[in-house]
Amino acid sequence: MTDHELIQDVRERIMKARKLVFLTGAGISAESGIPTFRGEGGLWRSYRAMDLATPQAFSRDPVLVWEFYLWRRRLISGCRPNPAHEAIARFERSKPVLIITQNIDGLHQKAGSKEVLEIHGSIWRSRCVRCGRRRHDERLEMELPPLCDLCGGLERPDVVWFGESLDEVILRAALDALRSAEVLLVVGTSGVVEPAASFGRFAASHGAYVVEVNLERTAQSPYYACTILGKAGEVLPQLLSLEES
Ligand code: OAD
Repeated sequence: MTDHELIQDVRERIMKARKLVFLTGAGISAESGIPTFRGEGGLWRSYRAMDLATPQAFSRDPVLVWEFYLWRRRLISGCRPNPAHEAIARFERSKPVLIITQNIDGLHQKAGSKEVLEIHGSIWRSRCVRCGRRRHDERLEMELPPLCDLCGGLERPDVVWFGESLDEVILRAALDALRSAEVLLVVGTSGVVEPAASFGRFAASHGAYVVEVNLERTAQSPYYACTILGKAGEVLPQLLSLEES
């Protein structure tokens, strides 16, 4: 099959599906200017994840961890959704879509998507480690570390760190969607961080036609129906366009 034929074939499957499910990772936001984690220019090439994205790192040095997240907030606040986020949001206006995202940047919602499960949390929320109160938090500068104005406890970014479990309700909703998906698009994720790394395989084992969109093949590619190599911002608008090309 040529690339064009593959894209047309996947597009037809997408159009026939009653609901479209996405699993997205850092690669979908790369064209917005947000660094990915692995690969060239990846955050974990310059910073040690264990010093910045674990509960132990936060207990040791909450100010350092907050500085890292505030730096990322400032970076993300200057970034816009790209044609990949926009193509999904546009498609969602005519057909049911569910996005399971590992990204904490909020760009799917900024593009207009409504059904988004943020399995790794959001950089735009804080959570008190003492009373558990969550709140929307868009501050780009603040006195560190921030304290909860209800109980005086330490606030942390409301994201999932290495060694932590996903929120149970969100995980259950994601698994339900994967179990019933007819077509799953896995976009811009290296497929190495569990449990999300296994989501595509899980959906495939329940009958989904799983399509990967990535710059390169990944460790999960062998389990999927096909891999479309290319930039998400170029491939998704073709796959999701409502007019045939
Ligand atoms: P990674 O940085 O591991 O992988 C990004 C993937 O996107 C790679 O496979 C790239 O080839 C691909 N990619 C890059 N640019 C792309 C583009 N323009 N179009 C399509 N694909 C592109 O990011 P994730 O898989 O999302 O978790 O990482 C998973 C988790 O690891 C993150 O949520 C984060 C991280 O540590 C935590 O912090 C807990």
